[in-house]
Amino acid sequence: RRHLIDTDELTVEEMETLFGRAAYWRDHPEAWFQTGKGRFVANWFLEPSTRTRVSFEVAEKRLGMETIDLDGETSSTVKGESFYDTLRTLSAIGAEVVVVRHAGVGTLAEMAWENPGVSLVNAGEGNGGHPTQALLDLFTMQEHFRELKGLTVAIIGDIRHSRVARSNYWALKAFGARIILAGPESMRNPSLEENAPYLPVDEAIQQADVVMMLRVQLERHRETLFSSPDVYRHAYGLTPERLEAMQPHAVMMHPAPVNRGVEIADELVEHPRSKIFEQMANGVWIRMAVLERAIEGGRWR
Ligand code: CP
Repeated sequence: RRHLIDTDELTVEEMETLFGRAAYWRDHPEAWFQTGKGRFVANWFLEPSTRTRVSFEVAEKRLGMETIDLDGETSSTVKGESFYDTLRTLSAIGAEVVVVRHAGVGTLAEMAWENPGVSLVNAGEGNGGHPTQALLDLFTMQEHFRELKGLTVAIIGDIRHSRVARSNYWALKAFGARIILAGPESMRNPSLEENAPYLPVDEAIQQADVVMMLRVQLERHRETLFSSPDVYRHAYGLTPERLEAMQPHAVMMHPAPVNRGVEIADELVEHPRSKIFEQMANGVWIRMAVLERAIEGGRWR
């Protein structure tokens, strides 16, 4: 089985192959609707999602796959059926791949170990990992800069709660990119700081080729954080002044959803230097490549 649990299990060669396949799917619409014909994939989203869920579905359909949607409220998980038994059931019924978003960190790695008979694809696991987001982020950077090695990427904001930061960290490190972290003291993640300096936001922004802003997970900070979005934005967000201070060639990214006016000034979300909607578009190609890998198993190179 070809699972995708997180980016730390992928070699640079494997990620390069995924980027190559993503570009292939983007550039060859005549090849769509064939590779996955007659193959079933289940989308099991136990936490909210717009981009990841919809782009997986588009990717599946463009590969010609048959899709099954399973949600937490209407499946037998509400009757207490275990994670493993649900996956084993989907396998018995005919699903070959299960795309999962859920809250429990580490469950997918455990399930992969228990071998429930399906290829597992992590679509965002608690504050653990979000590998397809990191892959689409790196693909977007590579398309823009051609080379990831030596690129300086500043990851700014709520790093402590961010699965996107973690998965990007592993993937960027593997490629030899330089990572800088920045944001409020209360949102630091010391486990990522061994190989990535923590700098004041203004310094990080000035040094970066890529300024990656993270969503402030307001639901986790409502009481303790800041008195208003303006306070956060002025202290740590991307404002027009900070955009001006970026290197002339630098670009801005964000995994979205965006809190407009909090981590990014509203008018910068669709600024020419923003890659946010390009990232979303690239998510479809990357997910086609990941699904292709999942169904091709050992034959995939
Ligand atoms: N970036 C991302 O994972 O967005 P969704 O939560 O909408 O899928």
